[in-house]
Amino acid sequence: MSDTTGQTLKIGEKDYPVRSGSVGPDVVDIRKFYAQSGMFTYDPGFTSTASCESALTYIDGDEGVLLHRGYPIGQLAEQSSFMEVSYLLLNGELPSKDELDKFIYTISRHTMLHEQLAQFYRGFRRDAHPMAVMCGVVGALSAFYHDSTDIADPHQRMIASHRLIAKMPTIAAMAYKYSIGQPFLYPDNSLSYTGNFLRMTFGVPAEQYEVNPAVERAMDRIFILHADHEQNASTSTVRLAGSSGANPFACIAAGIACLWGPAHGGANEAALNMLREIGTPDKIPEYIARAKDKNDPFRLMGFGHRVYKNYDPRATVMQKTVREVFDALNVQDPLFETALRLEEIALSDDYFIEKKLFPNVDFYSGVILSAIGFPTTMFTVLFALARTVGWVAQWNEMISDPEQKIGRPRQLYTGPTQRDYVPLGQR
Ligand code: CMC
Repeated sequence: MSDTTGQTLKIGEKDYPVRSGSVGPDVVDIRKFYAQSGMFTYDPGFTSTASCESALTYIDGDEGVLLHRGYPIGQLAEQSSFMEVSYLLLNGELPSKDELDKFIYTISRHTMLHEQLAQFYRGFRRDAHPMAVMCGVVGALSAFYHDSTDIADPHQRMIASHRLIAKMPTIAAMAYKYSIGQPFLYPDNSLSYTGNFLRMTFGVPAEQYEVNPAVERAMDRIFILHADHEQNASTSTVRLAGSSGANPFACIAAGIACLWGPAHGGANEAALNMLREIGTPDKIPEYIARAKDKNDPFRLMGFGHRVYKNYDPRATVMQKTVREVFDALNVQDPLFETALRLEEIALSDDYFIEKKLFPNVDFYSGVILSAIGFPTTMFTVLFALARTVGWVAQWNEMISDPEQKIGRPRQLYTGPTQRDYVPLGQR
């Protein structure tokens, strides 16, 4: 819980209390501002607005720090596993060995989808974007799992959370299989969370699938890097949808829709498409010039961040993981060299220096995912799969928060004032 600092901020005639969290900027509590002043605050994009209290994730964008429940992302990516990080985000503490085993067991018992959902896929066109399929199928889960939609019951909330985490790899792999016309594979619970996902995605029923441990480790790390990121656009969407009392499956489907946009989760797909378009390092100056040109809508995808005004700590791990995957698979991709050179040129350019634009998590992820064998359209699906853990943890935190209210922003109205209706024949 936050504390009042005893300090206040005077706005007009009134003093508003200042509250502090455990670390990071204090906040001015303006909940009574409208009642006392008759005015709203104006903050499109919420650049100065804390929408909630949260104890999950902390980001210091100036220093390039990202902590989950206090643990630095670099340490979690190097030493932990996605299942352990999921437990941490959901429960607040790292698990003991027994707690982790039990958690993995529980998740693995929810990996299958209701059989009728497989038929649901057949309603989509084969060339549908897998994110479109994902939005539809996850939204449809609420039609299949009624027994975990009572949000007032903490037990049902936990079952829904486990179901979402467990079924997301199955849903994602099936979206991929459907797009390439291959049969769906049922989950194999003898494999790890990530190994099982790789098998359902790249395996075929006719052959034994061997999980490559290096790829499994890299993929697991990519999931860790995407697990949560405090009140970003899709998480705020999940919270806003959840604030009305909507069921968790509907809320996560809303989060997936928001994540799809190219300014958010869709940037990983856009970043690799951009690198392919640039092709060779000699073309980089042309694209840098376009990114700087105010009359050109082009932006360097995978660059810049609302919160990080320093190197995104996830990008550091991602860059290292590229080399590991390349070594494990014995591949080389000239686009990686293009990406490294692009980063080098951008980071020595005044425009990027002044605006504090650094590579973000999406800059290198596409190169790795492509080497593993994913088509670009699957990139954002993988982001959604991993972020589901953050979404459900944030959603649970919100439902348990006694200060939670339905999200209902106000506006600065600039439309016409009241006027009389003019009948059609007189206009
Ligand atoms: N290339 C060129 N210029 C940029 C870029 C970029 N990638 N990003 C920001 N700028 C400029 C922008 O034009 C603006 O300039 P000015 O002040 O002269 O108008 C300034 O930097 C500030 O940009 P902004 O759009 O006001 O900043 P924002 O905080 O609203 O946007 C962002 C953050 C991530 C949407 C933006 O940096 C961007 O569009 N980046 C490319 C897309 C991308 O990589 N997104 C992934 C984000 S990380 C993964 C995730 O969380 O989903």
